[in-house]
Order: sequence, then C-alpha cells, then structure tokens
Amino acid sequence: MKQLVITGGSGGLGNAILSEFPESAWKIFAPPRDELDVGDPEAIRRILTARTADLFIHSAGIIRDAPLLRQDENAWDEVMAVNYQGAADCAAALLPAMIRRGAGHLVFISSYSALHPPVGQVAYATAKAALLGLVNSLARENGRHGIRVNAILPGFLETRMTRAVTDRRKSAILEDHVLGCFNTPGAVAKFIRHLHDDLPAVSGQIFQLDSRVS
Ligand SMILES: NC(=O)c1ccc[n+]([C@@H]2O[C@H](COP(=O)([O-])OP(=O)(O)OC[C@H]3O[C@@H](n4cnc5c(N)ncnc54)[C@H](OP(=O)(O)O)[C@@H]3O)[C@@H](O)[C@H]2O)c1
Repeated sequence: MKQLVITGGSGGLGNAILSEFPESAWKIFAPPRDELDVGDPEAIRRILTARTADLFIHSAGIIRDAPLLRQDENAWDEVMAVNYQGAADCAAALLPAMIRRGAGHLVFISSYSALHPPVGQVAYATAKAALLGLVNSLARENGRHGIRVNAILPGFLETRMTRAVTDRRKSAILEDHVLGCFNTPGAVAKFIRHLHDDLPAVSGQIFQLDSRVS
C-alpha cells in the first residue's frame, strides 16, 4: 500500500487532501500539530527520519501579516519556521529513505503571494518564495534518484487561514480572477492526486491553480 505523509492535515486544504487519498488505498500519516510541530526541527528528525513516504505534502502554513517595519520579530521567525524551514526539515528527514528506495514525491504548498506579494504580507510572501527555491533545488538534486518535487500555488481558498479576510478585500482579490471565482480545496486536492498518479514525468514545476493572469 502506498504511503502518504502530510503536514497541516487538520487544515482546510489538508482535510480536502485527506478525502482525496482514501485509507483503503493509502496508508496515511497525518500527525496533528501537537504530535509534530513543524517549527521544531528535533521533532521532525525524531518522527520523520527513515519513515517511508511515497508522497509527502507540506500543507502546514501560517500567516502573521504586517509590513516589514511593523513586523514582530517572533512572528517573522514563526512564519519562516512553519512555511519554509519546516518544509526543508521534513524533506531532509524523508529524503534518505526515498533515495534508498529510488522513488518518492515531495509536494510543497506555496502561494500566489510568493510571486505577487500583496502589501503587508512580507514574511509569508518571503517564506513561500523560499519554498519555490527549495522545490527547484530539490528537484535538480534528487531527479537522478527517481524523486519528484513540485510546488502548488492553490489560489485563494476559503479556509480558516482566510476567515479574517473582509468581504471588501475578498471582492478586490476576486476582481483579479478572470473567471470571477475562487478555487476550492477539493479541486486542489484532486489536482495533487492527478499530479501524483498520472504525471510521473513531471518534476521541478510550479502549478498556479486559479485564474489570475500575470
Ligand atoms: N487558504 C488560502 O487562501 C491559501 C492560499 C495559498 C496558499 N495556502 C497555503 O495552503 C496551506 C494550507 O492552508 P489552509 O488554507 O488549509 O489553512 P488552515 O486551514 O489554516 O490550515 C493550516 C494548517 O497548518 C497547520 N499548522 C500551523 N502551524 C503548524 C505547526 N507549527 N506545526 C504543524 N502544523 C501547523 C494547522 O494546524 P492546526 O489545525 O493545529 O492549527 C493546519 O492544519 C498553507 O501552507 C497555506 O499557506 C493557503
């Protein structure tokens, strides 16, 4: 049975991903935050090292928005730790076993903000942009071992993360979508399943899943 390891499985997107990977076909390891805090490198090493994963999805993420000059230092560190450093640490823990098996797929959930940061979201945008560097580097480093690495920019999703976004701000964001609608967690989950199952020749790619046109 194939094995899925996912961080952020309790989140809006994580939940949708778990629904798309049924336990009848997949052995799932989706530790909650109190079992695996991705801001804790030692916990990541202890829990993930040598664990077998056919597919790893880093969906854990947080937002602590502020402009740089008003950004609390601890909040900056927390955003970097969860969105970026935790992703790199999880990859470092899982990759040796993937390399030994000659197979594996790492999927990182980045954000449109990585490429088009809105004003006041500097920490999140920086962390999500760093994730794209990680994807490209890991794809290059590990392709020869049969390991794939891809990034998803899921688009604006109505989840706990965006609950505080005002209707006015949402309307403004929607105006940038040429189709006039947001993506959904379920559609993102389906895309990840398709990417994993049906596109074995794809690695080192960044997939933007909405209708914002650059
Ligand atoms: N929603 C959007 O519009 C949007 C857009 C672009 C990208 N994304 C990205 O998509 C991913 C999923 O976001 P979402 O919308 O599903 O948000 P969400 O519902 O707020 O879920 C966030 C998840 O991250 C987990 N998490 C937070 N800090 C953690 C930590 N220190 N250790 C382990 N897990 C931690 C949360 O766990 P708890 O349940 O314990 O809090 C939760 O499972 C994130 O990476 C986010 O940046 C979201």
